[in-house]
Amino acid sequence: MAQTKFTEADTESLFDDRQRDQRFRSFWDPEGSLHWGYFENLATARPEDFVPACQRWDSYMLEQSGITAESKVLEIACGNGKSAIRIAQETGCEVVGIDLSSSYIENATAQVSDLPSLRVSFQKESATNLPFNNDSFTHAWSQGALYHIPELSTALAEAHRVLKLGGIFLFDDLVTPGDEISEDSRKYVYDRLLFEPTFSPETYAKKLTEIGFKVLQVKDMSEHLHKSYELVSELAQEGYPELGAAFKKTQEAIAANDLGWSFFLCEKVK
Ligand SMILES: C[S@@+](CC[C@H](N)C(=O)[O-])C[C@H]1O[C@@H](n2cnc3c(N)ncnc32)[C@H](O)[C@@H]1O
Repeated sequence: MAQTKFTEADTESLFDDRQRDQRFRSFWDPEGSLHWGYFENLATARPEDFVPACQRWDSYMLEQSGITAESKVLEIACGNGKSAIRIAQETGCEVVGIDLSSSYIENATAQVSDLPSLRVSFQKESATNLPFNNDSFTHAWSQGALYHIPELSTALAEAHRVLKLGGIFLFDDLVTPGDEISEDSRKYVYDRLLFEPTFSPETYAKKLTEIGFKVLQVKDMSEHLHKSYELVSELAQEGYPELGAAFKKTQEAIAANDLGWSFFLCEKVK
């Protein structure tokens, strides 16, 4: 993987921007989640199907996770906290959400203050330096976030360290399937989101294995990523035509194999 030109501080400023959060809530998800959808029917999906498709993706991950009321879950890069709260509500487990953005952590914490029966807490931390002991969690969960981390290998090693032996690491992430990317993909996708070309699905699985995970499932979600950007492009177009155009370029990058979306389900085996 190439050396990144973006820093963690760049990412932190991007996500600390409250106006950006409000902008994205206006067309992406009013409840502040920022990941992609899993569509029941790719051919017929309409803009109003986008948020339900994001929730379908959460449901899929929950089903695969094996999380129960006895689990202790770390959500890495939890954003505004929607998934962490849902995991706790549906299973009764304990969830700790961490994120680099103080404004997201404030938003997430405000939400759980109204839900005292849930065992959910949020902390501002970096995935590259987790303040938890070894073997602390039964599950580590992440959605649509790890590609933002310049020191991704360090973050993967940290996820491994804080999981118990036999613990489950499940996450989805953007991937770079091909060797070369076009100028447009670099400008409108990678530079816009402050990241460099990253693992392919195959090199990702190899890296996870080297760290000490057994990869139980790799699921290619790229068609659903393409549909997600088609729909959010339509949803953003009226209020934010520049974003609408950038999302169209993102669709083109996916069609050209310059960008993909993969899900990994792994077990800590050593
Ligand atoms: C696209 S958002 C996804 C948020 C959330 N997972 C969701 O699905 O709504 C990416 C998130 O990654 C967080 N992030 C980026 N780098 C991070 C790091 N080094 N440590 C923790 N969080 C990080 C950002 O602050 C942001 O909340």
